[in-house]
Amino acid sequence: MPIFEAFEAFKRFKRLRLFEPSLGVLGFFLVAVCVICCFFYLDYRAVAKGYRVPSQSQRFLWLKLDGSSSSEIKKVDFLSQEGQGCDVFDGDWVWDETYPLYESRDCSFLDEGFRCTENGRPDLFYTKWRWQPKHCNLPRFDGKVMLEKLQNKRLVFVGDSIGRNQWESLLCMLASAVPNKDSIYEVNGSPITKHKGFLVFKLKDYNCTVEYYRAPFLVLQSRPPAGSPQNIKTTLKLDQMDWNSIRWKDADLVVFNTGHWWNYEKTVRGGCYFQEGEKVKMEMTVEHAYQRSIETVMQWIHNKVNTSKTKVFFRTFAPVHFRGGDWKTGGSCHLETLPELGTSLVPSETWEQFKIVSDVLSAYSNASEGTKFDILNITSMTARRKDGHSSLYYLGPKESPAPIHRQDCSHWCLPGVPDAWNELLYAVFLKHCINHTFNSSTYEAQV
Ligand SMILES: *[C@@H]1O[C@H](CO)[C@@H](O)[C@H](O)[C@H]1NC(C)=O
Ligand SMILES: *[C@@H]1O[C@H](CO)[C@@H](O)[C@H](O)[C@H]1NC(C)=O
Ligand SMILES: *[C@@H]1O[C@H](CO)[C@@H](O)[C@H](O)[C@H]1NC(C)=O
Ligand SMILES: *[C@@H]1O[C@H](CO)[C@@H](O)[C@H](O)[C@H]1NC(C)=O
Ligand SMILES: *[C@@H]1O[C@H](CO)[C@@H](O)[C@H](O)[C@H]1NC(C)=O
Ligand SMILES: *[C@@H]1O[C@H](CO)[C@@H](O)[C@H](O)[C@H]1NC(C)=O
Repeated sequence: MPIFEAFEAFKRFKRLRLFEPSLGVLGFFLVAVCVICCFFYLDYRAVAKGYRVPSQSQRFLWLKLDGSSSSEIKKVDFLSQEGQGCDVFDGDWVWDETYPLYESRDCSFLDEGFRCTENGRPDLFYTKWRWQPKHCNLPRFDGKVMLEKLQNKRLVFVGDSIGRNQWESLLCMLASAVPNKDSIYEVNGSPITKHKGFLVFKLKDYNCTVEYYRAPFLVLQSRPPAGSPQNIKTTLKLDQMDWNSIRWKDADLVVFNTGHWWNYEKTVRGGCYFQEGEKVKMEMTVEHAYQRSIETVMQWIHNKVNTSKTKVFFRTFAPVHFRGGDWKTGGSCHLETLPELGTSLVPSETWEQFKIVSDVLSAYSNASEGTKFDILNITSMTARRKDGHSSLYYLGPKESPAPIHRQDCSHWCLPGVPDAWNELLYAVFLKHCINHTFNSSTYEAQV
């Protein structure tokens, strides 16, 4: 390795007393600068040419092979017959100049908090990455095609504010295919910035609605049983779905997510305990409660949802990327401008979180015919996108940037990472449509 050689050379110089030690140090410094510049140059070339950003180990491959490893196997189309069984969540982020799919200034359905560019975020790299599965190609997102498939249908997002992040992303993606923006409206006239239990946007030309229900725990949070001790302010009924679930069960597509609220801080610490039946379980751990709630969702799908009509998706946890603290202790991510292949910034709780849900989901996806759902398994792919968060640019154009110790490294800039989740949703949805209505060959002819 060059650095090692330089160091050896430096030691030799010292031994031979050819140079004064200070000159030797200077020489070593110059060599080190050259090596570092060389790495940056390679990185820059990788970005400029549209190659993947190399990981540490791939950097050294670069040095040895100089890109001669481009003997990629030809990928099949995910929507074709051969694409059957392709794991679309296994892949890489690739640079793509044709992205983003929309501009935030053209989309009126975005919370201020997600409009990073308008709030002063200077870099745009984070909008230019496309998700490329290893073994197949995704269809390019076409809002018109999706809207035609959604004609007379209801698409519902249920979950926490990261679910809202994804919902607003999809609204923008779909709206960019609709010329008359006035034909898209909230059915109760509610503004998007106001925090409401739910928001229902109608796309009039297609008679379809794209809805968001805030239910960070998915199960019911309400008053504790009568006569409970004072410190119990609310309870999560782990065996009952949220009251709004009545509106979800007849939708045509439902996209669930949960996770960011399943921690001690947001439950027990604030006097929110767990309840099963009539009993408040004072000793129950958050992890166990979380697992029970996912089981309840699975039971609900099994018992209440006609999965021939309603397609259920479960999006997995979207990792946060606070470095050097968390959201209230000065954790930061504002210097991140590139994705990474390793996942060193992702706290281990993410994978513990992921495992709790993943175990329940895989048990149920095996279990029986009645519980059919798709997993949007986005945790790994998203873990690499430390560059995609709102960081300092979530306060609106006037107040941003936020103070350096108050960063948002859990929500995502839009356009950005949630668009990729929706492209995967789109791909899997189209695959369902093809399975049910026509052949892949007829479909391809149409596109
Ligand atoms: C999700 O994807 C990751 C990486 O591709 C994989 O290791 C994991 O088994 C998947 N989990 C599920 C539940 O599909
Ligand atoms: C519009 O879609 C709803 C379902 O979301 C359906 O019940 C209704 O009949 C549709 N209206 C028309 C005019 O097709
Ligand atoms: C479930 O939905 C399918 C498709 O819409 C319908 O044909 C079937 O009758 C429904 N089953 C029940 C039990 O409602
Ligand atoms: C699901 O099914 C597979 C194969 O049939 C089996 O290997 C796996 O252990 C099952 N998982 C669960 C959780 O039952
Ligand atoms: C499509 O149909 C095939 C075979 O009938 C099945 O294995 C596959 O899971 C289906 N895919 C989707 C997305 O429904
Ligand atoms: C699918 O396409 C093939 C030929 O491309 C045709 O023979 C077959 O009947 C089609 N199947 C259906 C269900 O339309």
